[in-house]
Amino acid sequence: MGSSEIPAEIERVLLDEETIQARVCQLAAQIGADYAEIDNLVLVGVLKGAFIFLSDLARNLTVPHEVDFIALSSYNRGVVSTGAVRLIMDTRGNVTGRNVLIVEDILDTGYTLDYLIRAFQARNPASLRTCVFISKPERHEVDLSIDYLGFETPDEWLVGYGLDYADRFRTLPYIGVLKQEVYE
Ligand code: PRP
Repeated sequence: MGSSEIPAEIERVLLDEETIQARVCQLAAQIGADYAEIDNLVLVGVLKGAFIFLSDLARNLTVPHEVDFIALSSYNRGVVSTGAVRLIMDTRGNVTGRNVLIVEDILDTGYTLDYLIRAFQARNPASLRTCVFISKPERHEVDLSIDYLGFETPDEWLVGYGLDYADRFRTLPYIGVLKQEVYE
């Protein structure tokens, strides 16, 4: 499949590649300015979804930084979230005393990020901030403040740019809306 072909399961493109890349550059510039005088920055990408956003963000970042990953999963994740989060893989490095920036693809109910913030705070980082590419305000069940946000979107099933449906569509260069008939 060529990247220019839109799969039949996609209803429409919500954020095209150009729009996404422009926003990622803006976020990287903002983060670069904020961390200009701060060293020991580590970007922690939340797998699997954040791997595409993290790689674009990190490559646009002009301040020194390290990259690490953590993998989480929600219990019984389907259309309805239960709020329980499971740690599958921890970061390789110790974050104590480091300036940690959590990088997430999407903030849905907020349970995952809430869990992560608590888990990292308990490890005494020098600072802790969050960078989220997509937020769906209508879905939030936990009140969280995001330091760097890409876009707010309506409550639709989004795929592409790291986001999946049954592990498919993650590598589309745009964010598309999945047809309702696909997941119903
Ligand atoms: C997605 C996404 C976030 C989480 C957000 O992960 O990557 O980590 O859901 O949802 P929440 O705000 O309701 O907690 P998912 O569990 O689908 O795993 P994946 O990243 O491996 O696709």
